[in-house]
Amino acid sequence: MNYLPLFATLKNRPALVIGAGEVAYRKIELLCQAGAQVRIIAHSIGAEVQQLLDQGVVQWWKADFVDEDVNEAVITIAATDDEALNAQVAAAGHRYHRLVNVVDNPALCQFIVPAIVDRSPVQIAITTGGAAPVLARQIRQKLEQELPHYLGAMADVAQQHRPAVKAQLPTLTARRLFWEQLFDQAVFTDYVASGQTEAAAQFLTTQLQQAATQKAQGFVTLVGAGPGDAGLLTLKGYQALQAADVVLYDALVGLDVLDLIRRDAHRVAVGKRAHNHSVPQEETNQLLVHYAQQGLRVVRLKGGDSFVFGRGAEEVEVLQEAGISYTVVPGITAALGATAAAGIPLTHRDYAQSVVMVTGHCRPDGDEVNWECLARDRQTLVVYMGTIKAAEIRAELLTHGKSAHTPVAIISQGTLPTQTVVRGVLQDLEQLAAQAERPALMVIGEVAQLDL
Ligand SMILES: C[S@@+](CC[C@H](N)C(=O)[O-])C[C@H]1O[C@@H](n2cnc3c(N)ncnc32)[C@H](O)[C@@H]1O
Repeated sequence: MNYLPLFATLKNRPALVIGAGEVAYRKIELLCQAGAQVRIIAHSIGAEVQQLLDQGVVQWWKADFVDEDVNEAVITIAATDDEALNAQVAAAGHRYHRLVNVVDNPALCQFIVPAIVDRSPVQIAITTGGAAPVLARQIRQKLEQELPHYLGAMADVAQQHRPAVKAQLPTLTARRLFWEQLFDQAVFTDYVASGQTEAAAQFLTTQLQQAATQKAQGFVTLVGAGPGDAGLLTLKGYQALQAADVVLYDALVGLDVLDLIRRDAHRVAVGKRAHNHSVPQEETNQLLVHYAQQGLRVVRLKGGDSFVFGRGAEEVEVLQEAGISYTVVPGITAALGATAAAGIPLTHRDYAQSVVMVTGHCRPDGDEVNWECLARDRQTLVVYMGTIKAAEIRAELLTHGKSAHTPVAIISQGTLPTQTVVRGVLQDLEQLAAQAERPALMVIGEVAQLDL
């Protein structure tokens, strides 16, 4: 992060502007909107600034700038054509540790004036850090179109009732849930949008009474995070991450996906990435129940899809037994994501009419593998967790009639920037698997020779 975004209070506080031309006018106007006492340093005054002077809104302080002037204001904006003067103002800012902005000169700026979407008291500031101001303006235009005009009114109603909500809902979580649910209610937003603020306030009060007498219900959402690329997370999955109080995630979840978790949510690593040891499944199950019983919204975030070699079913059974509500948000399983990223179609009219996904890592008491079925022709076999069993898998497939020349591909870290794909034939499966970084997926069948 190159800049710390923050919103400053300038009401009745001095702000200095060097220059009084057209560019300076736009900044002066903005400072006036924020309630600042604007002091101008300039030799001559442009027509627009003159109007403000005539109205007594701003003060023409003096003609010449000296370094110490920055000490007389909370912030300073240099908006002159004189490059040497602009540089002097910036240097003075550094010397006195005061924030200075030099218009259209990011290198000299110690703070940025962002593009603004104003639905006061809701305000959104956008910056590209000086890299592409036009892009920032485009983003602002989009947000202007997207965000309803009544957002400010909604925040006003909320502000008036904050003390009552705080008094009736003692915990932070309860209050957050209350506000989230209220802002989602069409009845409430319709009242605010149509200017019926009394009705909106009445609705809020009724909802608050209900919330104060209800016991919070915990809820668990199993979210499939996809194979690694954060762009493959579903919209529902993203919404669950944004609403979560607690997120239990495992080792296969990509770091970019973890970045999408609501900032204040409590994160619990239950995979190997945590401390180089994994939390036993039974402990994870108990943690899910424990957090949900506290009335929290819990997300169980897993790589790929929770119900594809993800032990999601076991977790759901535990939740059912404990009487905890849950929902399952599917994810893109590695077989779909990694093969697509590697250019391998799982089915193809000429090569494969069916796909079988199988784990190479069976439970010790698991059923016998039906090798005959796995060795069928015109079928794509995708093996999860199979690289350490590559020798056995190759031997069994050959024994059950698969050709030694059947194409194979091993996709490591599929969909991530570090993805690698090695291709060969079944005969060489063990050697190919030995080179593969984990996690890795083995694709066996004619389609593995394709690279679309
Ligand atoms: C415990 S399973 C979890 C599968 C996950 N639930 C899914 O739907 O993809 C872990 C195995 O999935 C495969 N896998 C997961 N992510 C992968 C990726 N990005 N690239 C290649 N293989 C992956 C590997 O075979 C790994 O050993």
